[in-house]
Amino acid sequence: MSKIKSNPTKPIEQYEHKDKERLNNPPVGLVNAHSDNGGYSKKTYQYDPHLDPQLQWAGKAEHTSFDVPTVSLHVHERIDPRRIIETVQKAEEIPSQMSLFQEKKKPLREAIEFYKHKENWANRLIAGDSLLVMNSLLEKEGMSEKIQMVYFDPPYGIKYGSNFQPFVNDTALKSSDNDADLTAEPEMLKAFRDTWELGIHSYLTYIRDRLLLANELIHNSGSVFVQISEENLHRVRNVMDEVFGDKNFVAVITVKKASVMFAKKLLNSASFYILWYAKDKENIKYRQLYTDKDIQWFAENAGSHLWAENIKTKETRKTTPIERENIKDFLSLNPDVKIFGTWSLNAQGMEKQEPYNFQNKDYYPPKGTQWKTSYPDGLDKLKKENRLQVEGNNLRVRLYPEDYPVMAINNLWDKIGAASNKIYVVQTSEELPKRCMLMSTDPGDLVLDITCGSGTTAFVAENWGRRWITCDTSRISIALAKQRLLTANFDFYELAHPNEGIGSGLKYKTVAHVTLGSIANNEIAQEETLYDQPFSDSKRQRVTGPFTVEAVPAPVARSFDDVETDAGFEADNSISRSGETLRQDEWRGELLRTGVRAKGGKIIEFTRVEPLSGTRFLQAEAETKEDNPKKVVVCFGLEHAPLEQRTVELALDECSTLRPKPDIILFCAFQFDPEARKDIEETILSLFN
Ligand SMILES: C[S@@+](CC[C@H](N)C(=O)[O-])C[C@H]1O[C@@H](n2cnc3c(N)ncnc32)[C@H](O)[C@@H]1O
Repeated sequence: MSKIKSNPTKPIEQYEHKDKERLNNPPVGLVNAHSDNGGYSKKTYQYDPHLDPQLQWAGKAEHTSFDVPTVSLHVHERIDPRRIIETVQKAEEIPSQMSLFQEKKKPLREAIEFYKHKENWANRLIAGDSLLVMNSLLEKEGMSEKIQMVYFDPPYGIKYGSNFQPFVNDTALKSSDNDADLTAEPEMLKAFRDTWELGIHSYLTYIRDRLLLANELIHNSGSVFVQISEENLHRVRNVMDEVFGDKNFVAVITVKKASVMFAKKLLNSASFYILWYAKDKENIKYRQLYTDKDIQWFAENAGSHLWAENIKTKETRKTTPIERENIKDFLSLNPDVKIFGTWSLNAQGMEKQEPYNFQNKDYYPPKGTQWKTSYPDGLDKLKKENRLQVEGNNLRVRLYPEDYPVMAINNLWDKIGAASNKIYVVQTSEELPKRCMLMSTDPGDLVLDITCGSGTTAFVAENWGRRWITCDTSRISIALAKQRLLTANFDFYELAHPNEGIGSGLKYKTVAHVTLGSIANNEIAQEETLYDQPFSDSKRQRVTGPFTVEAVPAPVARSFDDVETDAGFEADNSISRSGETLRQDEWRGELLRTGVRAKGGKIIEFTRVEPLSGTRFLQAEAETKEDNPKKVVVCFGLEHAPLEQRTVELALDECSTLRPKPDIILFCAFQFDPEARKDIEETILSLFN
């Protein structure tokens, strides 16, 4: 800000809004009961006094409870990158030794008593809906309060195209919702339908349900971080207040976007956010992180108390406002100069008010204050260390940027940058989960990311020695994350106690925090631990630790008849829901409403879609809407697992027994096993052509 200087040659201007009007409020003292537009009265605005502040949305009131199937998580692969490398290396030496996964075999009896024996921890990459996965961790594995940190990076809003990556190698962000992308990964249709069926309403239910389970999983000292954009920041914060309690709100972190797209008609948005809540703020685990001290920030903080000192002559002078405005330029133009700020040596009180003689002049603490340090020893110490500075009639203490070379990070994160080597359309920069993790966990703690995507959180956790579990509904995501982890190389950070392993922590760099007290009063200078700067052993390299690839399993197939007559089964009529559906009546309705897109883009519409009885693998029959209607039979896939090749075969067998012979067999699933897809595309086309 520059000061106003009057310049007689220049007229003084103002902006006047001459084309706008306002009512003529009465000037003070002139108004009476008649002229005061209704006089003095009170208007009451009514609130419901019984409610805590809460957000409402369609379906919330009805959604007082929800059921989540308790499935177990099946291990499909055990991956140990180090063993793979060692085995490959050994195999080159001894060609006969080719087993990659040499698990120490358990006795058979033990091996099949699932969930009863503890085995070595392996991190976990799980294909499946987060609700099912979290429920399984809670119910099947007793992991209540075992997670130290949850990272949740949900799709930011209710647009489809911008949230899902249709192909492994296509990271282009879709600007519009495109049908071609919708059909590419069928499993995602389910996630899409459950989450966005009712727009923002089902989106909020999706978020709330997952946060509720996350809260049960989080340890008493744990944290949850939700990455979100401005579009839903306020809503999600409300929901988090509700689930975690507003007293457990920790911070809204504002992250500056790496690039701003100039697409908006109105003000462009340059930030997104991370909402941080604690399970219990009183008990939260917190590690302060620091960045290098920004010299400009130091200059601005010291303001008019910023001085320049000639390193050679030791002469000092105050900096000018222009020099302070760009202190980096000033310092690079003046290599012989270093800067320091001065801070008051006085505190409130009347005890230590004696004069202190410095450079042949007596200085007194200003009225009502006393010396902050011990008198005269503390001041003598400062004099000896060349830390005293006269400013006007006052003595002040000199502090240099080097005295405290770091600054604590706050909730404004800029210079984060975009994700490097991006492999996933909505990939987060590693720096975000890294900071969250380093602030809220220690090595060995367990981190859960329920929106794995390309596995950024798992990758960061692996780098920093945290244990991790992550899940995603998308197989593309699981494939990408697996590849990323398998091929990763990390620095080897030195362990605090090598014999005790990573759980004992890392050896971190520290910096001294020199203060007035540490110079004047001989207090031991405080040390700050730099949790993001462990010592590395450059002689060692590190790969990802062992992890398992798991999936929510296929439930036992039930025919439509079974489902209909099952007394325990009730169609989920709640209008906003997620999770288990097995709602074939709804699926039939959907087929009738929307038809299906056949190869070549043609839409096949139906005049009727009805349940089919007496069959096991075909659950519906339909008739196409055309001049010569065709008879269609439908095989619905399962809720939580891919439609398998075997089911396709069985459905085909069953279809061949039907009379009259159907013209079309339609396979509907959220996810297709690749072999099943091949069969459907090749065999069936030829069968019905
Ligand atoms: C914004 S992306 C996460 C990106 C991730 N942070 C990264 O760096 O790659 C959101 C992810 O959530 C997944 N997702 C959406 N609904 C889900 C659900 N119900 N359960 C599990 N994952 C889901 C999507 O498939 C997508 O990969």
